[in-house]
Amino acid sequence: MTSKKKNYNLFIFGTKGDLVQRKIFSALYRLEKKNKLTNNVQIIGISRSSSSNKEYINIIYNALKKFLNETIKLSVWNKFKKRFIFCKININKIQNFKKLIVFIKNKYDILIHYFAVSSDMFVKICKGLASIQCNKDNSKIIIEKPIGKSLNTFYDINQSIKKYFSEKQIFRIDHYLGKEAILNLISLKFANPLFYNILNKDYVDHVQITLSESIGIENRWNYFDQTGQIIDMVQNHILQIISIFAMNTPKSLHKNHIYDEKIKILKSLRNINKNNIHKYVSLGQYSKGIINNQPVLDYLHENKAQKNSITETFVAMKLYLDTKIWKNVPFYIRTGKRLKKKCSKIVIFLKKTKNMLFNNIQSQDKLNRITVDLQSTSKIAIKLFNKIPKLDSSFKLKPLELSYDYKKFFPHHYIPEEYERLLTEIMQNNKFLFVHQKEIIYSWKWIDPIIQAYQEYPSLLQYYSAGTWGPESSHKLIQQDNKNWDNH
Ligand code: BG6
Repeated sequence: MTSKKKNYNLFIFGTKGDLVQRKIFSALYRLEKKNKLTNNVQIIGISRSSSSNKEYINIIYNALKKFLNETIKLSVWNKFKKRFIFCKININKIQNFKKLIVFIKNKYDILIHYFAVSSDMFVKICKGLASIQCNKDNSKIIIEKPIGKSLNTFYDINQSIKKYFSEKQIFRIDHYLGKEAILNLISLKFANPLFYNILNKDYVDHVQITLSESIGIENRWNYFDQTGQIIDMVQNHILQIISIFAMNTPKSLHKNHIYDEKIKILKSLRNINKNNIHKYVSLGQYSKGIINNQPVLDYLHENKAQKNSITETFVAMKLYLDTKIWKNVPFYIRTGKRLKKKCSKIVIFLKKTKNMLFNNIQSQDKLNRITVDLQSTSKIAIKLFNKIPKLDSSFKLKPLELSYDYKKFFPHHYIPEEYERLLTEIMQNNKFLFVHQKEIIYSWKWIDPIIQAYQEYPSLLQYYSAGTWGPESSHKLIQQDNKNWDNH
């Protein structure tokens, strides 16, 4: 990104969509503020609906006001807004793509095409770009999850894209891989014997992963209702977290060695299908409720809702990895919209050891527990039992938390948001943080039978009030094993 010689053209397809408004504009603004965008970065926003350039700049400004979480600095904004140009394109009309040619000043320009649209449009865009020779080696494409809606649709899209772009030109995004805390999982595990030695079936009782959100579907009915929470969050983010957390030691930090180990974990996921879905999966949809003291609507009354939808907005699962290291250790995962609070964390509960003196420590609450917060404020906490100080020699124990705030430890380090990091990596042509096609194949292989089983048993869906921790069945799923969700 610091190269002086090359011009960078970033073409954003779907520039008026939720993802771009919520994340991409803010990420680009922050890069501008940090002087990480050089003068030769030009951004072309593409949408099928018309806007003048002035209207487009207003859209960007309003999105920043809403989602940036900091005051917009006038000096930064004045420089930033000059980078943007709006271009109306109907991607169904291949001749429309010719409009893009004027933005390319010379044949050495780096062209980055960001497809912030549904994956069923990816191939049309590729075709359009190829028709104007924008698929040569100087072009890259960024594609967002979920790619396809099943293994077969993924194959179709992937194969078609590859008629126009080679593998090295394709960057598949899962923004969780851009989170500092997710990357830090690799160092926590592989740089600290304290963690490395206990992260296995001999020491771990069970693992809980929660990705909860208090927001609903935020005007994304069309996308979300056809996707559902399993495909929106489990097929990608949760499986990425599990594969990084559970992988064996890679040969090196080279991306291919890491892919190899992550793929082994994805391949080892024990099957969930129509024969066992009732035992391993809980599904829910939110009904109305209260969030942050405000009443909120039920899913079926969201903007553009179809009243008979049975799309799940919540999923909890118990899953197993059939590897030597994790055999029979349950992983309980849950993720949902309109839950009690926003939270992204892994909680590792350690087993009791036989020869412990204090064996009266019984319930899950009394197990040693390691919590890794996955949001950017990332906190790492270990619960340990301590003797309560007393005059006599009796032992009464109290759990205390040893914790540190990762962010506070690095007061002089800037912790970038995930899309800032991912965009920077793309401009530097570094693929370390992007998803390999094989990872997506194995994710779909595991997810497909679950989706099919739900189609067979729609009665699995239960309703939960917005502002709670999900449906009754999700509590039963874990309580049947004498455990509880960690809601701290
Ligand atoms: C996106 C999903 O991938 O991740 C959204 O499509 C979800 O539905 C978002 O809200 C959550 O991301 P984060 O980083 O806020 O946990």
